[in-house]
Amino acid sequence: MAKTVWSLLAIFLFLQAAATGAVNSQIKVTDNPADKLVAAINENRTAHKSSNLFDNPGLACLALQYIKAYQGDCGAVGGADAKKPPESQFAETFAPNCGVKASTLATITGRFLGCQTKYVHAPEAFSEILIKNQRSLDILYSKNHTQVGAAVTGTDGGSPYFWCVLFSNGKPNSTFSFEDGVAKITKPGCFSGANDECSGAYDWSQLGGIWLFATTTLVALSFALAL
Ligand SMILES: *[C@@H]1O[C@H](CO)[C@@H](O)[C@H](O)[C@H]1NC(C)=O
Ligand SMILES: *[C@@H]1O[C@H](CO)[C@@H](O)[C@H](O)[C@H]1NC(C)=O
Ligand SMILES: *[C@@H]1O[C@H](CO)[C@@H](O)[C@H](O)[C@H]1NC(C)=O
Repeated sequence: MAKTVWSLLAIFLFLQAAATGAVNSQIKVTDNPADKLVAAINENRTAHKSSNLFDNPGLACLALQYIKAYQGDCGAVGGADAKKPPESQFAETFAPNCGVKASTLATITGRFLGCQTKYVHAPEAFSEILIKNQRSLDILYSKNHTQVGAAVTGTDGGSPYFWCVLFSNGKPNSTFSFEDGVAKITKPGCFSGANDECSGAYDWSQLGGIWLFATTTLVALSFALAL
């Protein structure tokens, strides 16, 4: 009896996974989801009569490094086991990896980080994962920010997916500057502000869909932090 139940369950799971895979393979991100996330933030800010923020590629590259510090561990993003990379990492690791001059780092005035096993497009990532409560709205509309950078990544091109937004109060043209003046594109993952058409990270296979379903049901974690 128990064996039959397990067999049925296995078949059900397989069909579900196949369906998930089929749906996933239809999703095509044609341009940069990190740029779209910044667009969603600026649209929402300006509708709220807050200033439009400059999309700084150096800051955005740091956001991608911030995600990478989690090494794909979604469980470390929020909740009881939440971890944050030490602040010293910005100057010691993130900036050099991005080719950003450490001397041009400015204060981070806010940050959003979210992780989820299911991929969603930028507007949903913004409204369903990153902006969850009054605290995150306060950070979103803060007058302290002058610029923003966003990054989106899937681990090994698949689930779980991370979204990170960093805000800063620095002057756009003299902070988070690249050593040689041009953005150093670091892959995998996408970051905003660099005119980088970044869609390659999301050509996951049907197998990815099965793995996604078999290993986890929906996991979604996030945090919002001022300064
Ligand atoms: C801004 O985003 C918040 C959170 O998702 C939402 O409640 C609000 O309606 C949005 N405002 C506009 C003008 O889109
Ligand atoms: C803005 O910055 C001030 C001073 O650093 C800080 O006290 C305040 O909490 C910040 N506001 C928000 C919404 O983060
Ligand atoms: C930075 O931008 C301001 C105005 O946007 C401009 O006046 C200034 O010359 C710029 N500085 C540099 C170093 O490019």
